[in-house]
Amino acid sequence: MRTDKLYLVGFMGAGKSTVGSALGRALGWPLLDTDTLVEEREHATAAEIFSRLGEPHFRAAERAVLTELLPRRRVIVATGGGTYAAPENRALINQDGVAIWLDVSLTRVIERLPSDGRRPLAADRAGLAQLFHARQSAYRQAHLRIDTDDARPDELVAHVLDWLQR
Ligand code: S3P
Repeated sequence: MRTDKLYLVGFMGAGKSTVGSALGRALGWPLLDTDTLVEEREHATAAEIFSRLGEPHFRAAERAVLTELLPRRRVIVATGGGTYAAPENRALINQDGVAIWLDVSLTRVIERLPSDGRRPLAADRAGLAQLFHARQSAYRQAHLRIDTDDARPDELVAHVLDWLQR
């Protein structure tokens, strides 16, 4: 396993960006966020891309971003909730670095996610639950699973650092 690149995977609201920046500070590695990179590339927000061009367009841009990041080492990559659900992305990530699943319960997800339209897939709550369950088997293929429900970001960071040094 290549441990000089960490991918944070998991559902929306798991805390991938928050934990990613704390982990980045601890390791002195930059945090790259695939959603942000997609938005920069497309000059549009994720919600705009979904509504104007459709989810397949978003997924293609997401894949392109992931591929472009392959040469980068000593970085943390915060992925979008759907990134690791695609088998091709999963294979690519598992070969390229350490996949860390920030596991979160659906209850927490619902508490945390505002229905402000920023996350196009979070607006429909029944759909959200379905998506949550459908993705669990994909996330399970990560190298490391961390339960995030009752832990602070600094505890999660300590856990990852311990695991990396084991
Ligand atoms: C998505 C999650 C979002 C973003 C897009 C689709 C998903 O990322 O990539 O709205 O399919 O779960 P976050 O997990 O960072 O919210």
